[in-house]
Amino acid sequence: MTQSTRYDAVILGAGAAGMMCAAIAGQRGRRVLLIDRADEPGKKILISGGGRCNFTNIHTAPDRYVSANPHFAKSALRRFTQDDFIAMVDAYGIAWHEKTLGQLFCDGSARQIVAMLVDECSAGGVEIALGHDVAGVDHADGQYHVRFGGRTASAPALVIATGGPSIPKMGATGYAYDLARRFGLKVIEPRPALVPLTLGGDETLFRELSGVSAEIIASCGKTRFREAALFTHKGLSGPAILQISSYWRHGQPIGVNFLPDHAPGWLAEMKRARPRVAFRTALGSAFPDRLADVLAERLGISGELANLTDRALEEAGRRLGDWRFNPNGTEGFAKAEVTIGGIDTDGLSSKTMEAKRVPGLYAIGEAVDVTGWLGGYNFQWAWASGWAAGQAL
Ligand code: FDA
Repeated sequence: MTQSTRYDAVILGAGAAGMMCAAIAGQRGRRVLLIDRADEPGKKILISGGGRCNFTNIHTAPDRYVSANPHFAKSALRRFTQDDFIAMVDAYGIAWHEKTLGQLFCDGSARQIVAMLVDECSAGGVEIALGHDVAGVDHADGQYHVRFGGRTASAPALVIATGGPSIPKMGATGYAYDLARRFGLKVIEPRPALVPLTLGGDETLFRELSGVSAEIIASCGKTRFREAALFTHKGLSGPAILQISSYWRHGQPIGVNFLPDHAPGWLAEMKRARPRVAFRTALGSAFPDRLADVLAERLGISGELANLTDRALEEAGRRLGDWRFNPNGTEGFAKAEVTIGGIDTDGLSSKTMEAKRVPGLYAIGEAVDVTGWLGGYNFQWAWASGWAAGQAL
């Protein structure tokens, strides 16, 4: 067996959560090793927010997260808040702006956030080993022994920060789940989230609208999001759809209110004001042309408003306000911004992220069954959970 180097903590995954955790623990005097299979740290940070990293959201609150236990994220989110992260960004002189809905982006580049975290790790004396897959992890005599790159690192604490399997072509893996299961932790079925939905069958017609967008309210059960939706050559995307995808299960319909600002009676009112207007033209006053064509076709209504009954027009208005799509799937992990599900929070301390029954084992970030809305919430969870574990190591 090769000589083993001793650390206070070994952190697997130099992504958002892993780097934050390493920096905090290092700055608290812990000897930390941070290992990643990628050849540079924070690869998802680099591509996030179109290269500008939507690093937090000023409206961060526990109700913007999906988890089997909606209370789990509260403690960490309260102890390391969006304001704490903004203070860190400000201390580095990184300029930022609010884009929309409380979403904060760098003015310059996501590289600034990665550089900041690398600097914070350096300030804590963190050793970073890149380009190494973990060959194996053993646990004996209170120590975790991690084999990688022909060497072994040993520590009384091991942090799983290898994220979720979204975007495998970037090197994302389900390694966190395999490791967690090996140590007896449960994993809630991982599913793609913040992901485009696909349409088939008699809804294939809508795929002709690829590139058309409209502001809508998307709903699934009691959850609703008012934002833009985008038709794609496979189905539906855009922020409203990505958001609702995190709540959607196979077989459920998605509700779309195409007319959030119109009362159901708007067509009947238009009939009184402009009776000679064609139904399709009336829709054209509210929708992009190609969308008006497809909706008129699907509604099976044509002719002048004067020749249509108020009842038919009200029914059309009602359907436009509550259109039912039946997605036949999602575009999968290849296109999912995050993974919903993951390491079951039941087995973790919400204060420290340590496994309740496996002393010294921690899990943070996207690997854990806490998934945020679109808009900087997922990074805020990565920072907060990384900070919580970093304080405990
Ligand atoms: P993260 O994925 O960041 O890091 C995990 C690390 O583990 C990676 O560096 C990986 O290489 C490494 N790893 C994996 N398997 C390993 C193994 N077996 N051995 C060693 N290392 C291993 N969120 C947000 O809030 N705002 C945004 O703007 C965006 N934008 C965005 C765009 C795109 C295209 C994607 C795919 C995702 C986003 N996100 C986002 C989501 C955000 O990127 C995500 O929630 C965080 O990066 C999760 O942080 P983690 O540190 O948990 O995982």
